[in-house]
Amino acid sequence: MFFSEIYESWREIQYEKYEEILERIEKNDLSLGKLVLDLGSASGFLFDFLAERDVESEVVALDIDVASLEKNPSDHLIIGDGNNLPFKSCVFDSLFCVDVAHLLDNLRFDCVKKNGTIILALPARHKEIFESLVAENEHCQLIEKFEVNGREKELVALLKKL
Ligand SMILES: C[S@@+](CC[C@H](N)C(=O)[O-])C[C@H]1O[C@@H](n2cnc3c(N)ncnc32)[C@H](O)[C@@H]1O
Repeated sequence: MFFSEIYESWREIQYEKYEEILERIEKNDLSLGKLVLDLGSASGFLFDFLAERDVESEVVALDIDVASLEKNPSDHLIIGDGNNLPFKSCVFDSLFCVDVAHLLDNLRFDCVKKNGTIILALPARHKEIFESLVAENEHCQLIEKFEVNGREKELVALLKKL
């Protein structure tokens, strides 16, 4: 697929975001825990980034695009729709939703455990969607909102599941 082929050129841009996100998670005394859901994982930049930093969490990669998943190095690949996640409640210790929420109509965090960490991030051009998702999420506590001023300006919210 065209998208998965050109997406490789975004690796460094995504790494700038993950770097800042990981620092803020630590500063806020949050953790990723053992089992991480990478919602809309594409070809696995997040998996590679966490592996390079010796983060020991298992990453479950879910994406609707098969061609992207075929390139993803995670051992746990799921072809699925982020609007209707195929998991029971309270399964994951943390969930990354980076640059995907604007493509979804029904983003839910039921599959994250109580006190689990949720990372919601969108490019600043999707500010309205970002703000409404952060505001409407009554099942989560907002821990911190910040911007990553890398090559792509990114809005990030760290949330704790209630
Ligand atoms: C811009 S990429 C973001 C990739 C990755 N999260 C990152 O940090 O680089 C958006 C991804 O969302 C996926 N996607 C789009 N709609 C989706 C849906 N309904 N369910 C799951 N994944 C979806 C696309 O296939 C694509 O891989």
